[in-house]
Amino acid sequence: MFIASKTAFNVYSKFNTLRKYPEIAPLFPTKLHAYYDQTERKLSRFGRLMNSDDIIEKVNTDGVQDGKSLKNHWNAAWISYILQLDDWLLKGDLHHIIFRKLALQRAIHARLMNAHPTIKQLVILGSGLDHLGWFFSDRCTSFELDIEPMISYKMKLFPILNQKVHLVDFDAMNDSLEQSLTLDSAFNSSEACLFITEGFIDYIPRKNLQSLLSQIKRLHPENEWISTHFDRSLLSSKQRFFFELGVQITGEQLQTNLTKEHIISIGCNNGFVLVHEWAGLLSCWINKVFRSILS
Ligand SMILES: C[S@@+](CC[C@H](N)C(=O)[O-])C[C@H]1O[C@@H](n2cnc3c(N)ncnc32)[C@H](O)[C@@H]1O
Repeated sequence: MFIASKTAFNVYSKFNTLRKYPEIAPLFPTKLHAYYDQTERKLSRFGRLMNSDDIIEKVNTDGVQDGKSLKNHWNAAWISYILQLDDWLLKGDLHHIIFRKLALQRAIHARLMNAHPTIKQLVILGSGLDHLGWFFSDRCTSFELDIEPMISYKMKLFPILNQKVHLVDFDAMNDSLEQSLTLDSAFNSSEACLFITEGFIDYIPRKNLQSLLSQIKRLHPENEWISTHFDRSLLSSKQRFFFELGVQITGEQLQTNLTKEHIISIGCNNGFVLVHEWAGLLSCWINKVFRSILS
């Protein structure tokens, strides 16, 4: 089955493999593992992922007359080798994925667990195959926004349809955020939201990012924003080459690099102030996580 965003699939498959490592698994709650276990099973049915046990079972039960029955399956065992190659080309990338997912998971959880919660809705822009909307939907109504083919894909992938998760077709280059959200009858524009942009703003031109932030602010003055940002100018030339080549191969387009100072200033111009920042533990780490709130 065709997937529109290869970068989203890349993040999903890397994290899905890494989260199973014995040293990493306990860092994440059981419910998160349940999301990935269930979506992985569905992906296997689509013929995108298959683990080696499933392949052995398929060979034993169906037999393989001409090899065709396995032709379209991607043996998940290969992913470990691909990951090793990936980390060799872009040192720190795997560490970065785990750190990013962990930082966002904990930051969102902390924000929603506040004793006097003002946040009642979660809006995830460029949600890809991520677990966040589904995971936090027992605490607040969640809206996951992405381009139409990704939204259709995710509807098929979701473990169980959850009435508190709303998947909204939205193209940040052409659509109004306000209109897309308010068209959904479950969206309550009188309640504040926490907006998440994980692995997303690097794909959006500066003027669209500015417009998104001003719309977020207009929707409700107490809206908050948590984002990751990848400052490519901090990479070595070899790392930058392999990262940009990797994205180019997927057919998706990275926008002109914005530095951390650019992002803070764009946020500030639209009424957001940086209140917390996480960066990697190793010097080669390049991803930073911001949380901005109303000044
Ligand atoms: C690198 S993936 C990140 C996915 C997810 N947030 C994560 O971190 O696992 C980027 C996502 O942004 C989405 N995206 C890219 N351009 C977009 C646009 N113009 N409007 C809406 N979504 C977009 C892609 O479809 C993809 O799902």
